[in-house]
This record gives sequence, structure tokens and C-alpha cells, in this order.
Amino acid sequence: MAQTGPNLYLVGFTGTGKSTVGRSVSVQLGYQFFDSDHEIERLHGRTIAQIFTEEGEPAFRELERKYIEEQHPANGCVIACGGGLIVPDGMLELLHSRGVVLCLHATLETVIERTARSVHRPLVSGEDRETKVRDLYARREAIYRRAGTTILTDQRPIREITAHVLRVFQREAHDWTAKNS
Ligand code: S3P
Repeated sequence: MAQTGPNLYLVGFTGTGKSTVGRSVSVQLGYQFFDSDHEIERLHGRTIAQIFTEEGEPAFRELERKYIEEQHPANGCVIACGGGLIVPDGMLELLHSRGVVLCLHATLETVIERTARSVHRPLVSGEDRETKVRDLYARREAIYRRAGTTILTDQRPIREITAHVLRVFQREAHDWTAKNS
């Protein structure tokens, strides 16, 4: 049965496991699951790569903002957020006003390995991928660090990561509800 309660926003760098973990957590919570990249592709009928090529990154960031502002349910869902979604000013605050924000983290070696065959990540594909990943992470590290409680996903079974996320979410959802009701 569908449950209600504050949303859970999973943020973090590309390749940290947000979609896999998010899906697994949503099943345990009885929440709906959404992946912001897939939702944006569905809503706009184009792939992320097409949006980047045809309209550029700022236009994609605006679609991400719109999705968070008005295109998903206000509660009862887990949302795996695209890696750059929290980068523009105000986005992190917006997420915190809508629910619990947890940040997934993996080493850059893991990220490089996990994103090797990806076709929907224009910022870290093509030539010299490894340098692109490292540069992008260096530019964003500070924002991920202040995003929310960080949960490591390196070399841990999905079941263990799911249990960890659920524990932290339950505690933070309680605090979030007390603060926002
Ligand atoms: C991006 C990460 C991608 C996707 C887009 C841009 C980023 O999502 O939103 O390619 O700026 O880091 P994932 O975090 O799911 O890879």
C-alpha cells in the first residue's frame, strides 16, 4: 500500500548509486520512486544528451528546477536527483524545504568505473573521461559536503546501504516533520 510521509531526495555525484539505492529504499518504505533524469526525459520527450546538445546545460538546469518545484508528488516518494541538480543557487535549500536530503558518496575510482558505459551523462563522456570526472567533482565537492548526511556506497552490498539509508531517513523524517508541521 502506498505510504505518505516526507519525500526522500537522494543527491550526490554521478555514479554514486542514487537510482539503484533509491529504488530499493522506495520498496522498503512503500514509497513511489522517481529518477529526475528519467522524468525530465519523459516529460520533455528528449534524452538528456539531446537537451544538452540542443539547448545547453543552463536549459537542462531549469528543467531540473521546474521538476523539483512543481512536477513530482509533495510526499510519499523517493527521488534520485541528477548529480548536478543541487549545484545552482537555491536548489539545495529548495530540496530541504520539500523533504529529507541524503547524499550518497563513492570514491572517484568507483565513479569512473560505474559511469564507463554511460550514454546519458554528457558532462563525463567522450575523450579523457577520467580528467572530466575528477575536475567536475573538485568543482562540486563543497556543495556535496553540505548537502545532507552522507552515506558511503563503495563496496557495500545494496541491502546494507538500503538499511543504512532507511535508518537515517527514519530519524531525519521525524525531525523534518516536527519542524515543518
Ligand atoms: C549530471 C548528472 C547526470 C545527469 C546529467 C548531468 C551532472 O545524472 O543529470 O548528465 O551534472 O552531474 P546522474 O547523477 O544520475 O549521473
